[in-house]
Amino acid sequence: MSNAFHSVLDAAELPPGASKAVQIDGHNILVGNSAGEFFAVQNRCTHQDSPLEGGRIRNGLIACPLHGVMFDVRTGCGKGQMGRVPLRTYALRVVEGRIEVSVDMPLTA
Ligand code: FES
Repeated sequence: MSNAFHSVLDAAELPPGASKAVQIDGHNILVGNSAGEFFAVQNRCTHQDSPLEGGRIRNGLIACPLHGVMFDVRTGCGKGQMGRVPLRTYALRVVEGRIEVSVDMPLTA
């Protein structure tokens, strides 16, 4: 394990409301843009293990495409009973226009 950040995408590739799944060291991660703020969370809903990619991002929340449970993109916390298990979040930073994600640091920077 290391604290290395992995360069995954150009920030310009992700306009507000967009998200994209990336793979880092076996982690399936959803990188997204919530009103100009980038985030990285696990790309599996904790309700029934469905991908979150393509979920609507609004007001700091991402809605799972399958049943609509909403998760806070910063904390990973879900809303309601079906969202009681939080998403894992990943540390993310932007360096010279590139989004970088670490799989070793548990909290979003
Ligand atoms: S699988 Fe995501 S809300 Fe049910």
